[in-house]
Amino acid sequence: MNVNADVDLYAVVGNPISHSKSPKIHGEFAVQSAENLEYMAIQAPVDEFSESVNAFFDNGGKGLNITVPFKEQAWSLSSQLSDRARLAGAVNTLYQNENGDICGENTDGIGLVRDLTVNHNVSLADKRILVLGAGGAVRGVLLPILEEKPASVTIANRTVAKAEQLAALFSGRGELIACGFDELSGSFDVIINGTSASLQGDLPPLPEGIINDTTIAYDMMYSADKTVFNRWAESCNAACTFDGLGMLVEQAAESFYIWRQVRVDTGPVLAMLRAFE
Ligand code: ATR
Repeated sequence: MNVNADVDLYAVVGNPISHSKSPKIHGEFAVQSAENLEYMAIQAPVDEFSESVNAFFDNGGKGLNITVPFKEQAWSLSSQLSDRARLAGAVNTLYQNENGDICGENTDGIGLVRDLTVNHNVSLADKRILVLGAGGAVRGVLLPILEEKPASVTIANRTVAKAEQLAALFSGRGELIACGFDELSGSFDVIINGTSASLQGDLPPLPEGIINDTTIAYDMMYSADKTVFNRWAESCNAACTFDGLGMLVEQAAESFYIWRQVRVDTGPVLAMLRAFE
C-alpha cells in the first residue's frame, strides 16, 4: 500500500493482473501531466474483491480501475452509479465522493467512441452500425455508441436471446435490431466486434456481404498481429480495420480525468504501447 503519504495512490484490480497495461498507461499520464500520483496493480483473490476494495480506500487510496473478472462485482459494490455505469451493468472506475461513498463509472464505451471518432475520425452519426456479440463487453459500450445518434445499431449474437435482451434493455435510446449471424443482410458502415471469439482464435460465422469497400471494422480486442476478425474484414475488402488498443488508452484517459480533472494527450501513450507490442 501507500508508503508515501504525499503521493495519491491509484490501482487496477483484477485476477490475474500481471498482464495489465494500466500501470504503464497511467504512469505515462502522470509523467505527462506532472500529477503527483502512483498507480499500482492489485491481484485480488477471486472471493475477496470487496475486501480488497474497502482496504484500498480505507488506507487512503484515491481511485481504482477494475478489470476481469470483477467489473460486475464493482457495479454491485458501488453506492452510486452514473447512468452509463448503471446501464452497462459493469464498472471499470471507482472513486469516493466527499461523503466517502464509493462511486462507480464505466469509461469503456466513451473510450471506444473517442478512439473511433477522435483518433480515427470515424463519425458514428447516421451510420448503420453492426455490433457482434451480446456479452458484458458489448453491454458496457452500447450507451455511448447510441448517444452518437447512429441510424441504427444491429446487435448480432450466437445466442440470439441475449441480443434481444440487450436490445430491450436499451430500447427507447435509438433504432436497435437484434438477430443471429445468419440473419444479417446488407452491408454496414461500421462493424464492431465485441465477441470473445478471437480470444480463442475463432471467428463468428459472418456473411461476407456485411462488408463493402467503405466499411470500417473495429475489433475491441487488440493484439500485436492483426486480430482474426480484422484479418477477415481485410479479406472482404473493408476500408479500414482498427483494434482496441486505442480504446484501452482512451478509457484510461477518461478514468484519469474523473480522478484528476486533467485531460491528457493520449497519442504519445498509444504510440509507446504500439512500439512495445
Ligand atoms: P465479455 O465480458 O468478453 O463480453 P461474455 O459476457 O462471456 O464475455 O460474452 C462473450 C460474447 O462472445 C458473447 O456474445 C458470446 O456469444 P454467446 O452469447 O452466444 O455465448 C460471444 N462468443 C464467444 N465465443 C464465440 C464464438 N466462438 N463465436 C461466436 N461468438 C462467441
